[in-house]
Amino acid sequence: MRKILFASSEVHPLVKTGGLADVSASLPLALAEQGQDMRIILPAYRQCLEALDKIETVATVKLDGFHLPIEILQSTLPNSDLIIWLVNSPEHFDRDGGPYGTHDGGDWQDNAARFTLFSRAIVAAALDQLGLDWQPDILHCNDWQTGLAPALLANEVNRPATVFTIHNLAYQGLYSQDVFDSLVLPASLWHSDGIEFYGLMSFMKGGLIFADHITTVSPTYADEICSYEFGYGLEGLLSHRADQGRLTGILNGIDTQEWDPKSDPYISKNYTVKTMRYKSINKAVLQQLFSLPEKENVLVMGLISRLVSQKGVDLTLDAVGKLLDAGENIQLICLGSGEAAYEQDLRVLRARHPDKVGLHIGYSEELSHQIEAGADIFLMPSRFEPCGLNQLYSLRYGTLPVVRNTGGLADSVVNAAGSNLKNGFATGFKFDDATAKALEETLLRAIGLFKHPRVWRKVMVTAMEQDYSWEESSKAYQVLYDNLLGKV
Ligand code: ADP
Ligand code: GLC
Repeated sequence: MRKILFASSEVHPLVKTGGLADVSASLPLALAEQGQDMRIILPAYRQCLEALDKIETVATVKLDGFHLPIEILQSTLPNSDLIIWLVNSPEHFDRDGGPYGTHDGGDWQDNAARFTLFSRAIVAAALDQLGLDWQPDILHCNDWQTGLAPALLANEVNRPATVFTIHNLAYQGLYSQDVFDSLVLPASLWHSDGIEFYGLMSFMKGGLIFADHITTVSPTYADEICSYEFGYGLEGLLSHRADQGRLTGILNGIDTQEWDPKSDPYISKNYTVKTMRYKSINKAVLQQLFSLPEKENVLVMGLISRLVSQKGVDLTLDAVGKLLDAGENIQLICLGSGEAAYEQDLRVLRARHPDKVGLHIGYSEELSHQIEAGADIFLMPSRFEPCGLNQLYSLRYGTLPVVRNTGGLADSVVNAAGSNLKNGFATGFKFDDATAKALEETLLRAIGLFKHPRVWRKVMVTAMEQDYSWEESSKAYQVLYDNLLGKV
């Protein structure tokens, strides 16, 4: 049994803006189930304190660079006995809004200080300086918000081995040199072999340079980030670490209890591969919910997404707009929030086709399950996608994913064409070019196949039979941890 401290800035169901939260709950749970001694550390945001019943203060600690001592609060992840530590600094985390900014989307001005404080608290826990008599063998950090922790630990003698997982290289935590100076960090970090990045401070680089091992959330994304197109200028560093054998892609798993059409409490009628016909009941309920005509033979396209350029929302708007104008027998049901322009364009699309477009701007756990259960296909035409979870949920719900051939989408969906169809391997629809035209052609392929219910059902069965639980992927992390402890 290893002691593993898992550090993340969002953890489902306490605080979530995207897939990082899902993974930061489901991976530690899977590792704990396999016998590892797990703790999760996250900031004590107001919403977390409100959501948790039993919270106890277990430590008080003064961190370098911060005036007031902070507290470590202990609780358990809801519906489990997994111990979580919350870094309580009310000045930084007890506010009304999201984890990174206000409700209307602007970043908090003091994010650099907030996540420096968080990283310093992680370091204190990693060095067993909290007086809790628990020192991890492995510190597993996630995304830029935790990137300073491996950097601050690098020269410590009694430190744990460190793993840094990139969930999305597009968000790097870049700040000016003035901000760096205000954070009272070791001056030696201001170096191109440190966290300096073209005159800016990069939290992400802290993880990339100083962690003993880097992982990312799919094998294809691990290759992609070593290239100019996906590397944001970090491709040289990442290629170097890959050459050293220090960069690995491990595909995310999903929480198969939470996302299970057999027992999902949010959906109207539960179903399995054997009772797949009940999916049509969920389809009818979904159409009702969005005030769309209840028709069995219309192809319902689901979309649940942060509305940002990464997700190819503009491609969807263009391609689906054209198909609707052409009178194709389709409906689009969309749940999301994000950039105002995309929200507005979706509203306009609905106004133009009120009987064919359903839209909910906002965030809803319940609706997201209902869309997964009720739609026929799921749209994920992402420009890049480190892993993507919704295509994995879709496969399990027999809702065929339509994806661009990139990152984790490339690694998890088998295109319904040619020999894949003939041999029964197909699970969804894939296309290469990030263009509305390519998406439109692929949607036309889906519309065509939907007219062949027997073939369609076979693809659904294959999709539903795929195993994207954490079983295999969590073992890959354990092998990595073991290797590191042998090596470091
Ligand atoms: P990313 O993390 O890049 O946003 P993922 O596919 O990894 O993409 O994860 C997104 C997660 O957030 C999924 O669990 C998805 O269901 C959820 N999600 C995104 N937008 C919404 C929304 N508006 N309402 C409910 N859940 C959402
Ligand atoms: C990021 C990525 C997404 C991935 C998620 C969890 O938000 O954008 O592709 O699934 O992290 O790893």
